[in-house]
Amino acid sequence: MKNIVILISGRGSNMEAIVRACASEGWNARIAAVVSNRPDAAGLAFAKGHGIAATVVDHKAFEDRLAFDAELANVIESFAPDVVVLAGFMRILSPAFVTRFERRMVNIHPSLLPSFTGLHTHRRAIEAGCKLAGTTVHFVTAQLDHGPIIAQAVVPVLPRDTEDTLAARVLSREHVIYPRAVRWLVEGLLREENGVITHAAGETQLLV
Ligand code: GRF
Repeated sequence: MKNIVILISGRGSNMEAIVRACASEGWNARIAAVVSNRPDAAGLAFAKGHGIAATVVDHKAFEDRLAFDAELANVIESFAPDVVVLAGFMRILSPAFVTRFERRMVNIHPSLLPSFTGLHTHRRAIEAGCKLAGTTVHFVTAQLDHGPIIAQAVVPVLPRDTEDTLAARVLSREHVIYPRAVRWLVEGLLREENGVITHAAGETQLLV
């Protein structure tokens, strides 16, 4: 049985989607812990309510990023993780931390990477006149919002879209592809060649 540790900072709807998929699809895995850097993260209550260890490592209690990252890594390691899932975790991680969990740690970013790394992705996509937007699950590397792409979902940008309507459309797709991608990782079905990730059995890594 594989151990999954999920890191959140807020709402935690992607975490919820993964918890539910793990249970309903009978993955050979358990959510060993949900860790938040914010004590007020709404997602913590859901985790506790589902009998999952919910832990806070408050970044404000640490002198600098390295000290926070070191403690965060120790807490994560205490749950013997096979997979570390960043689900709306809003902290930039140091290269040492990333190296420690290399190819075991994934993130979801609300854009079609490599476009629109960083914040305000939906606003920027609308302002750029994009007709397509989407979301990307990728392995975490030291470079923010980079790293080999595991899966993407695309949605249309509609003429009257606001940042909020586009965000909601993208989020509903995140709840489909993120659990799927995490399951592939848990099941050891991802292959990498020259930085390109493929699914061992050829399942589609694109959700349209
Ligand atoms: C998602 O849009 C995700 O792409 C981004 O942060 C948001 C997290 O939402 N990284 P939630 O906390 O999972 O509801």
